[in-house]
Amino acid sequence: MKTLLEFTKRLSRLWPYFHSGKGAMSLALLATVTASLTEPLVPALLKPLLDQGFNRGSFSIWVVPASLLLLFGVRGLAGFTAQYALASFTNSGLLNLRQAMFQKVLSAKLNLFAQQSSSTLTNTLVYEIFNGTAILTHAMMSLVRDSFTLIALVGYLCFLNWKLTLIVACLFPAVAFVMHILSTRLYRLTKASQAATDKLAYVVEENVLAHRDVRLHSAQVEQLKRFRGLSEALRSLSIKSSVASAAMTPMTQMLAALALSAVISMALIQSESNNNSVGSFVAFVTAMLMLVGPIKHLSEVASPITRGLAAIERGMELIELTENETQGEFSKIRATGHIRFINATVNFGSEAPPAVNKLNLEISPGETVALVGASGAGKTTLVNLLPRFIDTTSGSVELDGCDIQNWKLDSLRKQIAIVSQHVVMLNGSIALNVSLGQTVNRQKVMECLQSANLDQFIASLPNGIDTEVGHNAMQLSGGQRQRLAIARALYKDAPILILDEATSALDTESERAVQVALERLMKDRTTLVIAHRLSTVHHASRIVVMDGGRIVEVGSHAELFDKGGHYARLYKLGLHEPDTTAAINHP
Ligand SMILES: Nc1ncnc2c1ncn2[C@@H]1O[C@H](COP(=O)(O)OP(=O)(O)O)[C@@H](O)[C@H]1O
Ligand SMILES: [Mg+2]
Repeated sequence: MKTLLEFTKRLSRLWPYFHSGKGAMSLALLATVTASLTEPLVPALLKPLLDQGFNRGSFSIWVVPASLLLLFGVRGLAGFTAQYALASFTNSGLLNLRQAMFQKVLSAKLNLFAQQSSSTLTNTLVYEIFNGTAILTHAMMSLVRDSFTLIALVGYLCFLNWKLTLIVACLFPAVAFVMHILSTRLYRLTKASQAATDKLAYVVEENVLAHRDVRLHSAQVEQLKRFRGLSEALRSLSIKSSVASAAMTPMTQMLAALALSAVISMALIQSESNNNSVGSFVAFVTAMLMLVGPIKHLSEVASPITRGLAAIERGMELIELTENETQGEFSKIRATGHIRFINATVNFGSEAPPAVNKLNLEISPGETVALVGASGAGKTTLVNLLPRFIDTTSGSVELDGCDIQNWKLDSLRKQIAIVSQHVVMLNGSIALNVSLGQTVNRQKVMECLQSANLDQFIASLPNGIDTEVGHNAMQLSGGQRQRLAIARALYKDAPILILDEATSALDTESERAVQVALERLMKDRTTLVIAHRLSTVHHASRIVVMDGGRIVEVGSHAELFDKGGHYARLYKLGLHEPDTTAAINHP
């Protein structure tokens, strides 16, 4: 009873996504119940046929065949309607669930992506939800159909001979007990296999992403071992759950066979003492045998229901347990670009030292500030605070005098353009990638591509700006992708620009082309530039040197170089590139 209650509660959590299809569901239920209720009519037709049909003349010859045709006509129509309505119900629920999940992926707090791998999210959203919904609704329908068939048949049996029927009733608790034990185990095993499948998918995903590194470091054997370990675990889980589900069928069938034998013997003994008709005995045994089907189905229905429910629940957990990003009310068409970090602190884990530690920094509108520092100094973390990709653990960040927590996210992010070393392109045309999130103005796209020094490359493409870049624009070179990202930033025309090692992945040749494009982009904007080469730093009005999450030095290149501190040391370690050294030594 407790499990039933819990089960209903779990089902009712799904209802918000499925209630839009309630018309279809009612129709499916109605049709299913109609089909079930016609079941006892088959043995019921046998009774008069046997008792009177073969005594010639007692009723017209055509009555039985005509009723039989009518009966199967009704059943067929009801069955068809049920299937159709069920498909419509299932798919409308699936649509709602998927949309809600994707919506969540788009609005969730960004730490979701640190906790879940992309393959886990893809798997849950695309495949599991579909399989889960299909399995669950079919199983639920079968539950309804078989329960009603069972009720109708048992009712008919009671009507024929209630004493014999009592024996059948005694078997229900036994069947229920077996079902309960096995389905609990099956549920646990299903959850465990899903987790194992995710891990396995993750290994494949990683190896696809890092295929070059794996080969370069000859890590194949190690990766194979990892994969094999997980596959073995999955295999053993899958066998265990097969054992559990395979045990269910024979066990319930044995119970059914036991009942059947008892009933037949009892009926035979009874028929000696009182004069039951042949017709009613045949009708009883037929109805009795017809019980085996629904009982068998009902004993098996627990497994797909638990499996389907578990799959959908994982998706629902994503929707319900994942928090959305928080935001405020403040909004502005165009910020002036006045930025202040006030005691900003970011702590990723309680053990690790803060990535950004009580940092204070004020940047005036239009200023270009360069952030330099060793790798791991906290530069990326600091700039990621601005678009709220990361939130401060303590302290605050202000834009135009308003705490960014109080900005509307949409408005805040409109103020910021970012070019980082990881350029991500979406599968679509160049024009769509450049104008991402805005309407495509072809003229403006062309201008931005030109400013990004990409016009010649675009002219060489067969379809110009309508060329599809493909999956993450892998066929473009690093420099081309980087300049495409710059064109995207130009198109956005935001007052604040963040350049996070935008040129670090490039060779000198393409860097020069990108450099020119970047200078155009930085003009008249508040710019935060993280650079590991002095050519970019040189344009900054101020250089901020970071170490261990703190600012250790601030000043111009000449000042800092003469001071002989952190900056001078970084500079000597090779912050510069060889061919710009001359220019910097003679400013
Ligand atoms: N998502 C993250 N989770 C945990 N630690 C992180 C995360 N991102 C950065 N860190 C840590 O924060 C510190 C600063 O990193 P980062 O800002 O990327 O440095 P930089 O850009 O200066 O090289 C590093 O010690 C890094 O390990
Ligand atoms: Mg970085």
